[in-house]
Parts: sequence; C-alpha cells; structure tokens
Amino acid sequence: MAKRIITTDETEEDLRLEPSLRPQLLDQYIGQEKAKKSLKIYIKAAKDRGESLDHVLFYGPPGLGKTTLAGIIANEMGVNLKVTSGPAIEKPGEIAAVLNSLNEGDVLFVDEIHRLNRQVEEVLYPAMEDFAIDIMIGKGAAARSIRLDLPRFTLIGATTRAGLLTAPLRDRFGVIHHLEYYTEDELQTIVLRSAHVLGVEINEQGALEIAKRSRGTPRLANRLLKRTRDYAQVMHDGRITDEAAREALDFLDVDPMGLDNLDREILSTMIGKFQGGPVGLDTLAAAIGEDSGTIEDVYEPYLIKNGFLVRTPKGRAVTDHAYLHLGLTLPERAGV
Ligand SMILES: Nc1ncnc2c1ncn2[C@@H]1O[C@H](COP(=O)(O)OP(=O)(O)OP(=O)(O)O)[C@@H](O)[C@H]1O
Ligand SMILES: [Mg+2]
Repeated sequence: MAKRIITTDETEEDLRLEPSLRPQLLDQYIGQEKAKKSLKIYIKAAKDRGESLDHVLFYGPPGLGKTTLAGIIANEMGVNLKVTSGPAIEKPGEIAAVLNSLNEGDVLFVDEIHRLNRQVEEVLYPAMEDFAIDIMIGKGAAARSIRLDLPRFTLIGATTRAGLLTAPLRDRFGVIHHLEYYTEDELQTIVLRSAHVLGVEINEQGALEIAKRSRGTPRLANRLLKRTRDYAQVMHDGRITDEAAREALDFLDVDPMGLDNLDREILSTMIGKFQGGPVGLDTLAAAIGEDSGTIEDVYEPYLIKNGFLVRTPKGRAVTDHAYLHLGLTLPERAGV
C-alpha cells in the first residue's frame, strides 16, 4: 500500500512528534466534552474517597486521543502509568507478571485490547473484578491453584474495534467511552496549541485551513501542521498564514475536504470508467490496481462518511457531491 500523508495510523514521524504535543492534563485536552466531563467527575470522586478509578474502556478510530487520555488519567490521579498492548502479551504468565508489578492505584493501559488471546483474557477477569489472580503451582495430581492478591489498580483499555471485544471483558469496564471525530473548531484549537508548543507562528485562518483538511483527526492535524511549518519556512517567511497553509496543503495534495490523490482517483475512476457506478468492489479494485480489502477498510470509510460514496446492493456508487467536488458536471439521470 502506498504511504499516504493522510493516514490516521501512527507513523514513525508521529512517534517523534507526538510526545511533546500530547496534552498532560484534562483541561489541555480539547473536545470530547462528554467523555471529559464524566472522567472529571469519576476522577474527583475516586480521589476524594482515596480509591482507585474504575476500569475505563475507550473505543474509536485511530488518532483521536485514546492513548493521550490514558496518560492524562494517570497524571490526574497522580499515579504511575504502565503501558502494554494486546499483541505484546502472549502468555497468561506474562500478564500475571505485569499485574504483579503494579502499585496501589496504578493505571495499566492495554492498547489494542481486542487482540488479547483467550487465556490471557481469563487472567484479567478476576484481576479486574476481585483484584486477584489464580496461579497454578505443581504438576499432575499435586497441582493446586493459589490466589494471589493484587493492589487495586485501574485498567484502561483502548480499541479501534469495540465489536471484537468479548462480552465478559467488556462487562468488566465500569466506564465506556466512544471517542468522536473532532469538529473544525476543535481541530483549529488543537493546531493553535500545537503550534504554540512547537514555537511556530500561525494565524487563526492558517490553523483553520489545516483543521479543515485533517479528517476530524488530531493526529493528522499535528502531522499536517508540521509539514506546513516546513513549507512556510522554506517558501515563505516561516509564518503559517492562510495563504501559506493553503499553498502547502495543495502542494501535499491534500485537498480542501482532506481527500488525497488516492481518494480522488477512486472517485474519478468510478465516474470515468463506470459512469459513477454502481460498481462491484472487486471490479473497482482491479481498475485502480488496489486490494479490495484495503479499499473497503482504509479508503472507503472516509468517503462514505463524508457523502462522496454510497454502498448499494449492486455495489459502490458516487454521489452528486463527488462530481461537484471534482469540478465535474452532474450526469443526466433518468427519473432522478
Ligand atoms: N483532544 C486532544 N487535544 C489535543 N491533542 C490531541 C487530542 N487528542 C489527540 N491529540 C493529539 O493527537 C495525537 C494522537 O493521539 P493518540 O495517540 O492519543 O491517539 P489514539 O486514539 O491513541 O490512536 P491509536 O488508535 O492509533 O492508538 C497525540 O499525540 C496528541 O498530540
Ligand atoms: Mg493509541
């Protein structure tokens, strides 16, 4: 798959950039008002009682701030954060060791929690519910299980695929939040804040221009800000004005709706070769030389969410919005 600047997955570039741009406290975290408000209440209540926070599950698309929130919760609670992930823990003994290393009140963050295997998950059930794990010692007829008490900890799980979580695991979370895509206003505020942290001069309009093309995703907003900064530094006087931002983003082939070349190629191929559809996924995939699964999982969701594409029983079809966005005249359709 071609490397796309508009991917919302974490890239190596993000890994270098993100730590400095990650908000550390709830008040620095922009948007997600509902999640923020309820977390504020639960955190305060837990702290006032001197207890650990209930287990929390965050789900939602990549780059919306799940990992960031886990860090913020640990900071706000004044406890340590231990980070691991579903695919990193293969054996029950490994999760038992991680749990055993926690201190009272600590936060254990498990990213991609839907990828934990069954045996590992089963260790988590009593750990989450009773703060204990059962360990088998000895072999054969002499084998017996002993219960080991754990400190009261908080498990924070994150997943992009809540549907893949097993019911017993999901039921053990006291607090569940779905993270939403961000509005343009929120992304603009995030861009302004990040620019401040990076020491880049930017005006409100420049930040809005970046926000509009960031597909509702802070990770992408920060990445586009960084690329725009480079462009403004070399091609302008270093300040990110609306003009500099527009030029930079056009140069990066990220259009005013946040579509890149591949998105536009999908739409224009459907229009040029298939009269706008409906066209079957496999036929479309062959026409653009891309894997059909990739189209379905990676490209299509944003196009559908923004009304460029629809799924019909006969296949995919473009909408009028897509014609207009590409600057094409609408086809004449009988009976429409
Ligand atoms: N609400 C926010 N306010 C400001 N910046 C944010 C916010 N949410 C996310 N960010 C920024 O976006 C970046 C990506 O966020 P984060 O890594 O938390 O996403 P994620 O949901 O964990 O993604 P993934 O599913 O890929 O793990 C962070 O480095 C942070 O700088
Ligand atoms: Mg994450």
